[in-house]
Amino acid sequence: MLGFSIFPEVSGMPHTEREELTPKENNQLLLPGGHPPMWNHMDSIGPIGLPHREGVPGCSQEGLPYPSNSSELVLECLQQFKVTGTQLQQIQARLLGSMEQALGGQASPASAVRMLPTYVGSIPHGTEQGDFVVLELGATGASLRVLWVTLMGTGGHRMEPRSQEFVIPPEVMLGPGQQLFDFAAHCLSEFLDALPVGKQGLQLGFSFSFPCHQTGLDRSTLISWTKGFRCSGVEGHDVVQLLRDAIKRHGAYNIDVVAVVNDTVGTMMGCEPGVGPCEVGLVVDTGTNACYMEEARHVAVLDEDRGRVCVSVEWGSFGDDGVLGPMLTTFDHALDRESLNPGAQRFEKMIGGLYLGELVRLVLAHLAQQGVLFGGCTSPALLSRGSILLEHVAEMEDPWAGAARVHALLQDLGLNVGASDVELVQYVCAAVFTRAARLCAAALAAVLSRLQHSREQQILQIAVATGGRVFEQHPSFLSILQETVMLLTPECDVSFIPSVDGGGRGVAMVTAVAARLAAHRHLLEETLAPFQLNREQLAAVQAQMREAMVKGLRGEASSLRMLPTYVRATPDGSERGDFLALDLGGTNFRVLLVRVTAEGVKITNQIYSIPENVAQGSGQQLFDHIVDCIVDFQQKQGLSGQSLPLGFTFSFPCRQLGLDQGILLNWTKGFSASDCEGQDIVCLLREAIGRRQAVELNVVAIVNDTVGTMMSCGYEDPRCEVGLIVGTGTNACYMEELRNVAAVAGDSGHMCINMEWGAFGDDGSLGLLRTCFDASVDQASINPGKQSFEKMISGMYLGEIVRHILLHLTSLGVLFRGQQTQRLQTRDIFKTKFLSEIESDSLALRQVRAILEDLGLPLTSDDALMVLEVCQAVSQRAAQLCGAGVAAVVEKIRENRGLEELTVSIGVDGTLYKLHPHFSSLVAATVRELAPRCVVTFLQSEDGSGKGAALVTAVACRLAQMARV
Ligand code: BG6
Ligand code: GLC
Ligand code: GLC
Repeated sequence: MLGFSIFPEVSGMPHTEREELTPKENNQLLLPGGHPPMWNHMDSIGPIGLPHREGVPGCSQEGLPYPSNSSELVLECLQQFKVTGTQLQQIQARLLGSMEQALGGQASPASAVRMLPTYVGSIPHGTEQGDFVVLELGATGASLRVLWVTLMGTGGHRMEPRSQEFVIPPEVMLGPGQQLFDFAAHCLSEFLDALPVGKQGLQLGFSFSFPCHQTGLDRSTLISWTKGFRCSGVEGHDVVQLLRDAIKRHGAYNIDVVAVVNDTVGTMMGCEPGVGPCEVGLVVDTGTNACYMEEARHVAVLDEDRGRVCVSVEWGSFGDDGVLGPMLTTFDHALDRESLNPGAQRFEKMIGGLYLGELVRLVLAHLAQQGVLFGGCTSPALLSRGSILLEHVAEMEDPWAGAARVHALLQDLGLNVGASDVELVQYVCAAVFTRAARLCAAALAAVLSRLQHSREQQILQIAVATGGRVFEQHPSFLSILQETVMLLTPECDVSFIPSVDGGGRGVAMVTAVAARLAAHRHLLEETLAPFQLNREQLAAVQAQMREAMVKGLRGEASSLRMLPTYVRATPDGSERGDFLALDLGGTNFRVLLVRVTAEGVKITNQIYSIPENVAQGSGQQLFDHIVDCIVDFQQKQGLSGQSLPLGFTFSFPCRQLGLDQGILLNWTKGFSASDCEGQDIVCLLREAIGRRQAVELNVVAIVNDTVGTMMSCGYEDPRCEVGLIVGTGTNACYMEELRNVAAVAGDSGHMCINMEWGAFGDDGSLGLLRTCFDASVDQASINPGKQSFEKMISGMYLGEIVRHILLHLTSLGVLFRGQQTQRLQTRDIFKTKFLSEIESDSLALRQVRAILEDLGLPLTSDDALMVLEVCQAVSQRAAQLCGAGVAAVVEKIRENRGLEELTVSIGVDGTLYKLHPHFSSLVAATVRELAPRCVVTFLQSEDGSGKGAALVTAVACRLAQMARV
């Protein structure tokens, strides 16, 4: 294993002083003493191989002369570390290509970079506040850091975080995953023990710096370990869950892991607000990587078309597909072979702090073995992996360190340090560092080109947050990087900003956002909980419905009226003739011509509108309008002057005294025309016909739409003995035993009963299930206190329920950033069709958002998901309540007939039922659950209930004829 150690921070010099040391020409590197090494000028010459000598002397082997030209031999060897400007441009271009491929989702498994979306969607506003615990694992070698970060929002001053560092024992880094996470939980407790935190709930941000597939701010699956870690049982698992489990096992504190963040993201997000948008995070620590804000529409896996998302490039694995081939030195190959992950993270192994010391060691050992350094002597330490660390290299390479310090470090390695060795070792360190900085610059240049390209800006002004020990401990790394970036991307104006608190603040920022989102989710779930009905609740609805049916049939007080329809049989196929039909009360008012022949039924129909002022005006106005429409239809169809029998589908509760007599009990849905309630609708229609003297119409039957639908489907399937409507309103009818119908004389045979189940619960029996949103919808309706069941189920109301929930969530700050808009206050902006569209499986979230934006709602992508969930909760409850009602009906039929098992069909109509993507299957599932002894087939009515009304009329005509004969 490669070694780690935590060295005290090397104090850097003031920036201005450092700048004087900076070479002006990019390709030059100043070596200690101010002399540029000759290989810096060899841009055109390719890498030269190591001089190969047989019989390299060890200390014991005397006789080999110490070469007088050792500095030339060292420089010759270091030639391998030279990366030309052309090569840098190639890296930049290849990396950019690889990034774009991965973004487009075309990457092969051996893809060079991963481009992992992080679920961080915006850079911080600075308004984030609160106390957060941050746990950092994986950024800085074998150390684990715990921080306590207080965010003060915009007003407050900055507070320094408290932090503690823990060294992870080597056996933990390579042992079972559980041990690692237990260690982390233990460190957390130790840190918190020293703070006055007590048992309060704490929110933790987990900085986990390895390649992970994130599926949310707090869900992240480790793809593969990198750097010095290789714990078993973690790859392929959610690291947040592993940490949560460990914290739970430990049991000491009440900590919720709210967010997981890569170190690059923490670095970027921690950028002090005020210095302009910082949209790139660059880390060169143990490993290296960058993240940046990409346009979400370019990230294929996200299926999102607006906004930006932070993407972790994971450029450490660039070159794993072999593209770095010619640039790799023999030392790189040796280092890779001996690493924990041979063949992987090839780019990182040329840049990351974990590897720089090792590269220097391999070069020094080689040169010693070649007799070029240390009098041709190695030492056990020099030959041991991990003996030279990043900190050593930084010190040795630092031109201000002084020869004495380098000398001392080399002596600590047990080396025999000669007069010229110090300077030559500094050459080696500089060469390895310079290459790292320039390669890193090429990679950053690729990210900047990407940003410039996707933002279509001529000059990209951008701030890059930098973090990691390589920047902190090695001042010239940044200068070389900066100059190389300038050369490679002259069109970018880049400012580099060192990270705050080693990225801890940024992690706290993300955690604050995640905590807010989690709190919002909690409020959402709390709000929607009353809409989630369990089996017991649904079974209770079924039982109450059953009881109300029985009472209604007996004429006892009940919210179900159970109205006899005088339809005694479903069609037998012998019906013939031409009929007119009206269909009033659903979404459309239709006039139809229905021709029933031996070959089948042919329908011609026309839709007419009923303006709201007519539906809610005077009764006379309404019926005059209806007759006008009929006259118009007759003219268009060439039927003027003919008096065809007419069937009237009238979808409101009517007490019928015969087929052609129906007293409107009360209006429902959006109708409230005056002077109609308590009147016979057929009379009102006949009177209107009378007022329009030119027409003659023969009104034969009035039928409810449920009955029309049952009859219409019954013409195709004789088992159809139930009619169900789930449209603007909701209702059901079914064939009841006449003996059970108190209001109609006779003991044998059947009669179709219009249940008017929309009114179910008007006696308060649904009390516990009704939410405050149902109450608001009811209050604002034109018939408060009426149609309780209908208002929880049907299309006219579901959108309104959704709207009231959205208003509530907005007032809690959960939606639309807490801004109440005029739009959302507008009644009926949500139509049934929106619910159906929004919940369609084939719709991506961005399409959902488009629909909502068309409605004028100012939403973010989080809002769109929440609105979808609200719609789902509301429509699911509606379908299940409807299912419970259907279950009560079919069970009653089964028991009426004393059957073990009933096979029955139900004719169904209504836009909600037909257009909603999940409504029908949820109804069927609920019926299966609650009425297991009934085999129910749902038949969707294709022709509307007008056909049924015509069939009822046909039967009535036939009977009337028979009576006359
Ligand atoms: C139609 C029927 O198809 O569905 C009408 O012909 C019925 O009679 C209607 O009222 C119910 O659905 P909606 O969605 O139009 O109210
Ligand atoms: C490694 C990790 C990456 C991290 C980087 C810097 O490359 O895979 O996630 O950002 O190191 O710590
Ligand atoms: C309303 C009416 C009812 C009708 C139903 C479906 O509930 O009162 O008669 O069947 O809507 O349209």
